[in-house]
Amino acid sequence: MKKIAVFASGSGSNFQAIAVAAQAGTLNVDISLLVCDKPGAFAVDRAEMLGIAALVISPKSYPSKAAYEAEILQKLAELEVDMVVLAGYMRLIGPTLLQAYEGKIVNIHPSLLPAFPGKDAIGQALEAEVGKTGVTIHYVDEGMDTGPIIASEAVEIAPGETRESLQKKIQRIEHSLYPEVLEELLNGEEEAVQWEKSVH
Ligand code: GAR
Repeated sequence: MKKIAVFASGSGSNFQAIAVAAQAGTLNVDISLLVCDKPGAFAVDRAEMLGIAALVISPKSYPSKAAYEAEILQKLAELEVDMVVLAGYMRLIGPTLLQAYEGKIVNIHPSLLPAFPGKDAIGQALEAEVGKTGVTIHYVDEGMDTGPIIASEAVEIAPGETRESLQKKIQRIEHSLYPEVLEELLNGEEEAVQWEKSVH
């Protein structure tokens, strides 16, 4: 079974959805580690409740981003992690991790990219008064939410929609779409062929 590390900075509801799918067997994966850059984040409590190991690591404790990522990388290598899954990890991935996991880092973003990249994508969509927004899952490159798109799902913004109601709709989609896409990426037939090609 392939091994993943999930990176989160906040609540960790996507992390939990992935873990629950893995427990239910709809997603066949070994979640080897939660990496959290925010000590005290609820994602860490969830890891404990789910019985998943957590690496809580503060970038401020390292002289550089490269040193911080090298520390994470060492742990990922130790655990032989195949793929990195960003789930609300609010930090750009640097060259250290990008080079080591080239084509093997994915992210989920709460908008229909390329619209509304970066922080507060839900607020940005409401501010722009667009009729729809959504969720995008994409490969990670050096940019901010710019890598090749793997999957997306749209959601209507209803008249009178609030931030809370829109966030709820978006998270409902995220929690089903992410495990589904990960299963396809990690164990799907077509992807498995590509995976083998890139590994050998
Ligand atoms: C999710 O909605 C995710 O799409 C978003 O952060 C939230 C994390 O929620 N990510 C980004 O905005 C990345 N640019 P969670 O911690 O409950 O999974």
